[in-house]
Amino acid sequence: MSAGNYIQLVEVGARDGLQNEPNAAALSAVDKVEYITALAKAGLTRIEAGSFVHPKVTAMANTGEVAEKLKAVHQAFPDVIFSYLVPNVKGLERAKAVGAKEIAIFLALSEKFSRANINQGVDESFQNIVPVIKDALAAGIRVRGYISNLFGYDDFPFSPDDVAKRSKQLLETGCFEVSLGDTTGIGDPEKTRAVIAALNAHHVPLAHVAMHFHDTFGNAIANVDMSYELGIRTFDAATGGLGGCPYANSPKGNLAMENLVRWCQGRALRCDVADVAQLTRAGEAILKKLGKQAA
Ligand code: HMG
Ligand code: MG
Repeated sequence: MSAGNYIQLVEVGARDGLQNEPNAAALSAVDKVEYITALAKAGLTRIEAGSFVHPKVTAMANTGEVAEKLKAVHQAFPDVIFSYLVPNVKGLERAKAVGAKEIAIFLALSEKFSRANINQGVDESFQNIVPVIKDALAAGIRVRGYISNLFGYDDFPFSPDDVAKRSKQLLETGCFEVSLGDTTGIGDPEKTRAVIAALNAHHVPLAHVAMHFHDTFGNAIANVDMSYELGIRTFDAATGGLGGCPYANSPKGNLAMENLVRWCQGRALRCDVADVAQLTRAGEAILKKLGKQAA
């Protein structure tokens, strides 16, 4: 495979992880910044730091304060890019106000999931997100695009073609990368192979695709491995294995970044984290604050 042996790690614990941890709303901005700083110290360079969504997502309510405090952290770690999830123009304005350099937008494949998540159908959601992407690009902010329900949902059967078409649509609209989310953790290596075959058939450049696996049934690393074999080089994970999804059927957390780094080491692949022990400590510290045991 000519795609190289460097794996790009995208840390999502402070957003995708914490947004679905029951005790995360009690974390202060200082608690979160301590977690994020530990992640940067461990070497991670792409860190999702929070979201500018409706205040009903209480775990993310202090993202503005977090982003302000991260300005000092950025001076110490200038190579780190902090990203913020935004659902609409209002979220983008809030991201601009803190000087964000990267935002992430999201699109579901399932109508049911989309309605529960953002009170909009899939096509409506896409139409609403287009001006957000355009405005962000005009302001010099790069945009990552998430696609949820990668392997299907209650009302939406698994459709690799739809994944590929929506990926292409988001890239053509201006996203620099799409992250394909196994929101409910139902993926397996053969379905992963089918998705990547569809991406290739639709000429979606794999260099602009990230995989985002959840570990519900313990398949996340097997799915990473299959993705790698087929040319994917960017993976999302959450230190401490935080998270899940509020509208999914109680999935376990995101793939733990500690496990992803160990997988890189086992495969002799390069990545930004040299010392997994540092990550493990960061994961243990945030789990302790959340009142959870390390997995
Ligand atoms: P809505 O209630 O339909 O919004 O929510 P609205 O436009 O009717 O506005 C209602 C109120 O919310 C207004 O305030 C707005 O100003 C305010 P009021 O006038 O009543 O005082 N509002 C906002 N406030 C702050 N920031 C904003 C914002 N927008 C509106 N950005 C909306 C629609 C999309 C806003 C809401 O449903 C929402 O924020 N949803 C996001 C929920 C969320 O965070 N979900 C997680 C997404 S991640 C994911 O799905 C999966 C992923 O992690 C990958 C994976 O694991 O698979 C990506
Ligand atoms: Mg996730």
